[in-house]
Amino acid sequence: MLCSAARAAAFTPLKITSARRAAESRRGVVVRASGPINPDIKKDVDKVVDSVSLNDLDGKKQVSYCRCWRSATFPLCNGAHVAHNKASGDNVGPLLVKASE
Ligand code: FES
Repeated sequence: MLCSAARAAAFTPLKITSARRAAESRRGVVVRASGPINPDIKKDVDKVVDSVSLNDLDGKKQVSYCRCWRSATFPLCNGAHVAHNKASGDNVGPLLVKASE
């Protein structure tokens, strides 16, 4: 049997989910994953973290970083998001880091 605090805690996720749905609806974009987002990148680590220094641009005007988790050159975008979007109906694209002018 649940105490009143435990019952309240059990219902909290529903309130958060409802608020989240409302926020998603206002933005007009709803993305829900039915499984892992990352299919196969660095699965040997607990958390994939990459850092970027603006010095990494090496004179390039911009560098594209993958946000779809399908790039064979992760964390750099290799255009794999195009096939992913066609296959899944998703709308993901890269993060473009541009050199300041
Ligand atoms: S390949 Fe993943 S965003 Fe382009």
